[in-house]
Amino acid sequence: MNILVTGGAGYIASHTLIELLAAGHQPIVADNFSNSDSAVVGRVEKVAGVNIPCYEIDVTDYDALDGLMAEGNIDGIIHFAGYKAVGESVEKPLMYYRNNLGATLTVLECMKNHGVKKIIFSSSATVYGEHNQVPFVENMPTSCTNPYGWTKLMSEQIIQDAVASDPELSAVILRYFNPVGAHSSGMIGENPKGIPNNLMPYIQQVAIGARDKLTVFGDDYETIDGTGVRDYIHVSDLAKGHVAALDYSAEHRGYEVFNLGTGRGTSVLELVKTFASVNGVDVTCSIGPRRAGDIAECYADVSKANSILGWKAALGVEDMCRDAWRWEQNKSTM
Ligand code: WQD
Repeated sequence: MNILVTGGAGYIASHTLIELLAAGHQPIVADNFSNSDSAVVGRVEKVAGVNIPCYEIDVTDYDALDGLMAEGNIDGIIHFAGYKAVGESVEKPLMYYRNNLGATLTVLECMKNHGVKKIIFSSSATVYGEHNQVPFVENMPTSCTNPYGWTKLMSEQIIQDAVASDPELSAVILRYFNPVGAHSSGMIGENPKGIPNNLMPYIQQVAIGARDKLTVFGDDYETIDGTGVRDYIHVSDLAKGHVAALDYSAEHRGYEVFNLGTGRGTSVLELVKTFASVNGVDVTCSIGPRRAGDIAECYADVSKANSILGWKAALGVEDMCRDAWRWEQNKSTM
C-alpha cells in the first residue's frame, strides 16, 4: 500500500519507514522539518536501498496537505506529526493545541476529501495518567497531566468521532510506552535538539562525554530500587508494530486502541547499569529531586496487541542499549 507518513523524518517515523519498505509498502513522507532533520529520509533510503517521495509541508496547512493527497493513490496514513515535549507543552499550551490538534483535524479532513479510509495514530501511554494501576490496559480510564498528553487524548477522541460518522473508516490508535534505541545499521536514531528531556538520550550523551552526569529524578519511589520504572521498547519493535497495525486496518473497519510496549518495567538505575555494562562505558549519576508530573511505574499490558495484531516486541533492554550506543557514536559523523 501507498502510505502517507506525516512527520516522516522524525525518530519513530523514520524507523517505521524502514519497516514499511521491508513489508513491501511504499511510504510517502510529509514533514516540515521543524523538529527533525531532512537528511534522515536520505539515510533511510540508503539503508533500505529505495527512493522515498518526500514533501516539505506543514501538516496543519490544509491546502498543502490536500494538494499532496490530490496527487492520488494514498491507501492509508500513519500520522506522527506533532510536537512532543511535555515540559514545553506546559509553557506553550496554545501552540501545542493549535499544532497537534490542527494536524489531526487537517489529516482527517483531507482523508475525507480523497476517500482515504485507513489511519494509524501515534498516541502515548501518557494518556493513562497517574491513577491507574500497572500494567496499563487499553480500556482503563484515561486522563492527562499536561497539554501534550491532552493533545494525544483529544486526538484519539476526534478520530473516534470521525470513525463513528463514517462506517468505512478504519482507525488504529497506538499508545507507545518508552521508545528507545536505534536501527541496527547505526544510520538513524534519536537526535533531540538541546538538553534531552528523555532518559536514554541523556544516558547516551553522558556516556559519550557530551554531558557531565545524569541526574536521577528521585530514588524514593515505591519501586524495586526507588527510581522510576518504565516500559522501554526498542524503536524497531515499535516500528514493526505500525506495520502490524496497518495489516489489521486493511482487514477491519472501526476504531481500536493498542498498547505498544514490552510488558516489562525497568528502573532508571537498572537501565543505567545495563547501558554501562553492555557497552563498557561509564555513566556518572547523581540522585536529584523528583521531576514534577512523573509517576513511579508505567508499563504495559500487551496481551491485546499480541493476540489481535499478532505483534510482540522481540528485543530486550540490552539490545536497546547496544543499538543506542552505536548510534550515539555514529551520529556525529552523519
Ligand atoms: C523516564 C524515567 C524519569 C530523565 C515521556 C513522555 C511520554 C513519552 C516518553 C512522548 C523517569 C527518569 C529522565 C533524566 C531521570 N514521550 N529520568 N533523569 O517521562 O516516562 O515519558 O517520554 O510520547 O509521553 O511523558 O520518559 O525518558 O523522560 O523518563 O531520572 O534526566 O527516567 O524520572 O522515571 P517518561 P523519560
